Amino acid sequence: MCDGLKYLRGYINEFFRLRALAISKKLIVQFHLTSKCSMKCKHCYIYMNSERYQDELANELSFSWVCRVIDSIYNTAIKLQLDPVIEFTGGDPFLRDDFTQIIDYVKNKGIKFGIKGNPVFLTDELIKNLKENGLIRYQLSLDGIESTHDFIRSKGSFQKTIKGIQLLNQNDIPVFIKYTVSKLNQNDLKPLIYFLDENNLKISAFSVARYADKDNIDEMIYKPDEMKELFELLLDVYIKIFSNKTKNIHFLFKEHLWYPFLHQKGYIDNRLLQKMVSIENCYNCTMTKNIFVITPTGDIYKCRKVDASFLGNVKESSFQDLVYGVKHKQLLDTLQNSECRHCFYYNVCLGCPAITEAVRKNIVERDPGCFLYKSNI
Ligand SMILES: C[S@@+](CC[C@H](N)C(=O)[O-])C[C@H]1O[C@@H](n2cnc3c(N)ncnc32)[C@H](O)[C@@H]1O
Ligand code: SF4
Ligand code: SF4
Repeated sequence: MCDGLKYLRGYINEFFRLRALAISKKLIVQFHLTSKCSMKCKHCYIYMNSERYQDELANELSFSWVCRVIDSIYNTAIKLQLDPVIEFTGGDPFLRDDFTQIIDYVKNKGIKFGIKGNPVFLTDELIKNLKENGLIRYQLSLDGIESTHDFIRSKGSFQKTIKGIQLLNQNDIPVFIKYTVSKLNQNDLKPLIYFLDENNLKISAFSVARYADKDNIDEMIYKPDEMKELFELLLDVYIKIFSNKTKNIHFLFKEHLWYPFLHQKGYIDNRLLQKMVSIENCYNCTMTKNIFVITPTGDIYKCRKVDASFLGNVKESSFQDLVYGVKHKQLLDTLQNSECRHCFYYNVCLGCPAITEAVRKNIVERDPGCFLYKSNI
């Protein structure tokens, strides 16, 4: 067995074991502070519903509302004995004039924060300042090699992102990279990952997530065989990268169907699997976890990409009441009664309800990329 393959086997088992533990102790809130953005990426869900987009621009939560929501997140976490983490995002959160004051506010409350943002404003000075204020990680998007990435995002964006990664690396801020995959850019995964590796860029978490939206759905959506091909392609690159001594890139296995795929390929230790499949919602969709999304207008969702996960607005009920209210309970019951409920992998997979909703218009049917239909249900 080559070194890369041996390392990958150990890495995968440790990844699933630790991730299930880590998430269960946190209350994670992805706070979309604004829908303003200097880019107009071809796949971006922000622009898909123009009425909602206009509403988000016109009715952004004010600074005092943002502070009230942060207080409520903090109080909820204390009550539940969870560690609060806020991920500020958008759009581009730096386009809010009061972003510095918002960061001061979370710092004074002692809440850890990350940013899922754009690279445009990143400078050495800004990163140092964010680090002093408690920034724990910065997520950037890469959607292909330079020509593809710039085609999807905007000209010059690739180089700005690489520069951003270098600056974050120099300041020891963990860099998370999100790759939104579709058939448009799938073939760029390999060359892009090799590029990052050859340039010694340190990536604390590289994750690949499928494009999910109602537009262009037929051309973009992954069918079962295509899903397997995508995973095979990724495994091949990961093995090669893990053959290196440096191991500068850490890969996440966040796509829901990874777990059944890896198990069927013999990568997962059977004792670990038996334990995980017996624990309710052990690893499956983040919608079943203490993870919430707040939109610029204060709407709360379990997942930004799932309309059916709407829980209410922070101006009408407090964050605490909404996240542990009736709607949340009903949503969890709905997921628990989905078509996946009889599947052996339910607690570690559940498919992706965002993709299911986009294609099937409900969240109870099976993920269109599920390749286990006949054998497991
Ligand atoms: C909305 S952006 C906000 C942060 C920042 N502006 C960025 O682009 O990274 C967060 C992530 O969602 C991804 N995203 C946007 N639209 C999507 C869609 N329709 N399906 C899946 N992911 C999407 C983006 O590519 C990005 O990685
Ligand atoms: S940079 Fe992010 S928020 Fe802006 S358009 Fe692109 S994906 Fe959407
Ligand atoms: S049936 Fe559901 S839980 Fe089972 S493998 Fe398919 S998507 Fe995952």
